[in-house]
Amino acid sequence: MKYTVIRSNVKPARWWDFVKFLAIIIALSFNTFAVTEVAAGSSKAAEKAKAMKPFKHLSKESATCASCHKKENPGVYQQWGRSKHFGANVGCYECHKAKTSDKDAIRHKDFVISVIVSPKDCAQCHKSEVDQFSKSHHAKAGEIIGSLDNVLAEVVEGMLSFNGASPVAVNGCWQCHGSEVKVLSNGDLDPATWPNTGIGRINPDGSRGACTACHQRHEFSMRQARRPESCGKCHLGPDHPQKEIYDESKHGINFYANVDKMNLNSSKWVPGEDYDAAPTCATCHMSATSELPITHDVGDRISWTLRPAISEKIDAKAIKMGKKVKPWLDRRKDMKSVCNSCHSSKTISNFYEQFDSLVNMYNDKFAIPGNKLMKLLKKEKMITDTPFDDNIEWTWFFLWHHEGRRARHGAAMQAPDYTQWHGMFEVAHRFYTEMVPEIKELIEHAKEKGNKKSAARVQKLLDEILNSPAHSWYLGKIPDDVKAKRKADREKFNKRYLQDGK
Ligand code: HEC
Ligand code: HEC
Ligand code: HEC
Ligand code: HEC
Ligand code: HEC
Ligand code: HEC
Ligand code: HEC
Ligand code: HEC
Repeated sequence: MKYTVIRSNVKPARWWDFVKFLAIIIALSFNTFAVTEVAAGSSKAAEKAKAMKPFKHLSKESATCASCHKKENPGVYQQWGRSKHFGANVGCYECHKAKTSDKDAIRHKDFVISVIVSPKDCAQCHKSEVDQFSKSHHAKAGEIIGSLDNVLAEVVEGMLSFNGASPVAVNGCWQCHGSEVKVLSNGDLDPATWPNTGIGRINPDGSRGACTACHQRHEFSMRQARRPESCGKCHLGPDHPQKEIYDESKHGINFYANVDKMNLNSSKWVPGEDYDAAPTCATCHMSATSELPITHDVGDRISWTLRPAISEKIDAKAIKMGKKVKPWLDRRKDMKSVCNSCHSSKTISNFYEQFDSLVNMYNDKFAIPGNKLMKLLKKEKMITDTPFDDNIEWTWFFLWHHEGRRARHGAAMQAPDYTQWHGMFEVAHRFYTEMVPEIKELIEHAKEKGNKKSAARVQKLLDEILNSPAHSWYLGKIPDDVKAKRKADREKFNKRYLQDGK
């Protein structure tokens, strides 16, 4: 491997930088492997090297599987043949072998195997990746059974007509979030739950997740895992369009223009050393940098959670529950150090101020007031406890779950069109032209039914919100300072651009 650039430091050089530089030069001239590992020099690296050590021969069992499957499923055989596993003599049996006591074990020819190769199986050789993954939100993505959206799949959109499951969940939700894989009494895998490579799959051995969600079998190629499309299977669409956002961002533009220079198959992949055109999703959320190791916990570098109606810092829930987790500031510091491979720290801290300003404004102007209104409507029994039977529940859901998330995600990952036209514009439209009129209607309705007290309480809250400085324009009461600024801006604009009477 050729190292073209040694990461130049934006800070003025200090004597120990010079020593480090010398050390790297010496390391390179002895053709030592990764620069990062020289720096890390930890027992972790040693542990990993042990795990990734190839076997001397292909086992007898695996040779038997392969010789028969070469004819049975030539596609599988070819893919495996191109994989690093093949080169390391990791064969079919090493991954698929099972104990007779395993819930999903099947007797197959002369062997006991399971079709599912769970994170627990991969952990025989990739323990640190599995440990990191297992504590991530990804591993918990199968726990959506009780969620609000699940009512949509099981009740509103679908019904429990397929082995006790809703075909909407089976073919929709679970293919991204993961199913709970069930073994039927005859030993077969329940077709309602398999095939499935959802990211939080609940496996028969009790482990969580599917490494194949990102590492497609049987090549397990780095090139494929690092591309944005790997994440884009799930992270797209009206409620979390990260893939579309990336494609529209300057990062996406540069990635697609320079994909041949991205060095995607390299085993060491550090921005600024092995590539520099653009970061992919993996770069920012997972990959190693000159300062950070690879992480399989995708929450490791994000400071907000933008999924709920009201965004909160990613550690807020854990703190409330008295649990200790990596603080949001440390996560942000790590993300900033990723950016720092290609940007100055000033650019990045300004970017974070822009991003935070949008999230906070969305929270204050729409999410917090909207949430209060919805809670009060429910408390006053002006809407029922049944989710999605009242029009306004759909209105509110569109506002935060689709449009509000799009705006926040657009700001997080540099897609102005998602922040503005697919985002805040839609949020405002939804709030003023649907939510407010629908609340007024509910108030009238409550009055007609003689529920005057509830109607008055909701009216009072609505008035308070609409009379607050952020919303009073809607009542024709633009605050004087805002009015004066708009007027001055308009005059300036006219003078500058419309002087020749166009
Ligand atoms: C003598 C031939 C033969 C040998 C040896 C053999 N298999 Fe198979 N295997 C098959 C056939 C045939 C099928 C069914 C293929 C089909 O349905 O298209 C199959 C199916 C499978 C399946 C899929 C089962 C399912 O329910 O989807 C897996 C996984 C598998 N084999 C793994 C292995 C492993 C691992 C070994 C070695 C330990 C092995 N096989 C040895 C012939 C063989
Ligand atoms: C590095 C581990 C690994 C190795 C090596 C491996 N497999 Fe697999 N295999 C998997 C995973 C992972 C799945 C998907 C199941 C899952 O998501 O848990 C799978 C699925 C399968 C399936 C069923 C999927 C389908 O699309 O029909 C077959 C058949 C299979 N493997 C055969 C083989 C054979 C034959 C070999 C050797 C030539 C082999 N595997 C080597 C990990 C492995
Ligand atoms: C029996 C040990 C073993 C098992 C089980 C195993 N692997 Fe591997 N894996 C290895 C070894 C050894 C390498 C390194 C090969 C090399 O670098 O030449 C490797 C390499 C990889 C790589 C590629 C790294 C690179 O730099 O290209 C990925 C991705 C991977 N494994 C994923 C998995 C997944 C996912 C599973 C479970 C489905 C799994 N492995 C199961 C031993 C194993
Ligand atoms: C295309 C893949 C996909 C489908 C289909 C899908 N989801 Fe999701 N879901 C995601 C992703 C990706 C996220 C995380 C988004 C983010 O972090 O911005 C998510 C987030 C969620 C969350 C929020 C979790 C949290 O921690 O706040 C819930 C709840 C949820 N989904 C439930 C469902 C249900 C129920 C269905 C089916 C009715 C469904 N999803 C369908 C991909 C999907
Ligand atoms: C969210 C997607 C995703 C999931 C899920 C995932 N990986 Fe990875 N994995 C990646 C990416 C991306 C890389 C490449 C990181 C880089 O740029 O070097 C990677 C790298 C690896 C490597 C190579 C590490 C190295 O130091 O070179 C191994 C081994 C691996 N993954 C194993 C696993 C195992 C085992 C699982 C299941 C517990 C898993 N991965 C789940 C995306 C994923
Ligand atoms: C330039 C780096 C960068 C790239 C490239 C990038 N992201 Fe992000 N991502 C971020 C930052 C920064 C945040 C917000 C971090 C915070 O909360 O502090 C974020 C937030 C997220 C979130 C959390 C959203 C939530 O609802 O809480 C998800 C999910 C996500 N990104 C997925 C992706 C996917 C998928 C891709 C590729 C299609 C991608 N990212 C590309 C930097 C990046
Ligand atoms: C198979 C579907 C799937 C794939 C592929 C996938 N994700 Fe996710 N991701 C999810 C779901 C579902 C969630 C929400 C989990 C939850 O909160 O319950 C999520 C959550 C996240 C989060 C938020 C984590 C947190 O702690 O809040 C980030 C960041 C993220 N994914 C990044 C990525 C990146 C980067 C990739 C690709 C390398 C990727 N994901 C691939 C489904 C997927
Ligand atoms: C691998 C290099 C690389 C990494 C890592 C990277 N970027 Fe970028 N970034 C670029 C390139 C290249 C551009 C396009 C520059 C241009 O517009 O000429 C860009 C553009 C941007 C822009 C738009 C700037 C403008 O002038 O319009 C912002 C904002 C940005 N990046 C923020 C980030 C943040 C935040 C991170 C970390 C979360 C990050 N970048 C990580 C390479 C990178």
